[in-house]
Amino acid sequence: MEKALAGYRVLDLTHVQSGPTCTQLMGFLGADVIKVEPPSGDVTRGQLRDIPEADSLYFTMLNCNKRSVVIDLKQERGKEVFSDLLRKADILIENFGKGTLDRLGFTWETVHKINPRVILASIKGYGSTGPYSDFPAYEMAVQAMGGNMGVTGFADGPPIVSHAAIADAGSGVNMLAGILAALLQRERTGKGQRVEVAMMDVAVGWIRTKLRDQQRPGFEEPKRTGNDSGGGQPGYLVKCKPGGLNDYIFIYTSNRRDVWEALCRHMAREDWIADPKFATPKQRYERREEIFVVIEEWAKAYTKWELMEILSGIGAPAGPVLSTKEILEDKHLRQRQTIVDVKQPIRGSFKNVGCPIKLSDSPVEVTSAPALGQHTNEVLQELLGYPDAKLTELRGAKIIG
Ligand SMILES: CC(C)(COP(=O)(O)OP(=O)(O)OC[C@H]1O[C@@H](n2cnc3c(N)ncnc32)[C@H](O)[C@@H]1OP(=O)(O)O)[C@@H](O)C(=O)NCCC(=O)NCCS
Repeated sequence: MEKALAGYRVLDLTHVQSGPTCTQLMGFLGADVIKVEPPSGDVTRGQLRDIPEADSLYFTMLNCNKRSVVIDLKQERGKEVFSDLLRKADILIENFGKGTLDRLGFTWETVHKINPRVILASIKGYGSTGPYSDFPAYEMAVQAMGGNMGVTGFADGPPIVSHAAIADAGSGVNMLAGILAALLQRERTGKGQRVEVAMMDVAVGWIRTKLRDQQRPGFEEPKRTGNDSGGGQPGYLVKCKPGGLNDYIFIYTSNRRDVWEALCRHMAREDWIADPKFATPKQRYERREEIFVVIEEWAKAYTKWELMEILSGIGAPAGPVLSTKEILEDKHLRQRQTIVDVKQPIRGSFKNVGCPIKLSDSPVEVTSAPALGQHTNEVLQELLGYPDAKLTELRGAKIIG
């Protein structure tokens, strides 16, 4: 079956996590993603390496469904080869530091001149404009500056990072939306354009509700709220049986009267049903600490999955805390192909996160991440018709690898 992005070609100059998240999604959706790497390869190939000679899981989990081509863009003839590829591309995407692509000779003006239809997609830490634009960026630095750390943690403790890659993966996903919009606009105009996504801009977007609180009267200095749901629906994390590292469940009491009453009955607190102090969602919200002391006491007698069954049975939204081990083995995620097995040369099989975007007419098949330069010859022959002799000569001169 044809895939959604079949026929679109991506020249992928991305590295680390933010850019590769975007291009892996494009690969899942059927685009021909050609990862153009320096002779040393994407730095993550060797980071946190667990098997000698094998690319790290850091790399393989972010670079499935791509081809790898090695071109030394610091050499003049490397730039020529890359320009030839650019003529055949729809999208050029990069997440270098500010000015790096320009220094390599590929300013927007040059890119646009070489191929006016190409979309130039750039992920930056803080964008190419503004007072912070020269700062290099990694996830946690952006979480600090994006306000995410400031709102995470307990009121009496320090700011805390999230280990969800909100700035990296978040900018990759936002970039995918930007690229798809630019492709749609190109349908009408015939022209490519620049798309820029800054990690900080994305990170700030994830704390919109906290920025809401900041502007509410009486909330001039909102405190970190630990595991409180922080919204209009009272919710908190409670400990349960048998008391292990991840034996917790997040429970919302729900603003629905029938759910609240059913919860009271389960906890043998029928007295609360008629108690005027707990009559309205607002009153229950204000008394949430008192309520959750009782809920936690009740929850201790059950495992997180037993509680999930009880709570979902009465319509109370809840979520057991799943460990990474449990996630990789989870039957629901497996059935939905959100956790998939991928066969990788040298390494053998590993588990990856599949495509979270499920299209009815664009099936996803997750394929192994490429070895460094695995497709250099294939791509340069297939797209540019370079003869064997030219490939041998370029390889000998260390222009390609
Ligand atoms: C992540 C980051 C801090 C890393 O910085 P860095 O490794 O010092 O520098 P850059 O990414 O800008 O550039 C990498 C170098 O490889 C070179 N390079 C990249 N591809 C190349 C190729 N195919 N051939 C030759 N050289 C290449 C670049 O020219 C550059 O060399 P230079 O330092 O001599 O200019 C920086 O890329 C950044 O801030 N990116 C934007 C935000 C981001 O995505 N952060 C990571 C989130 S996961």
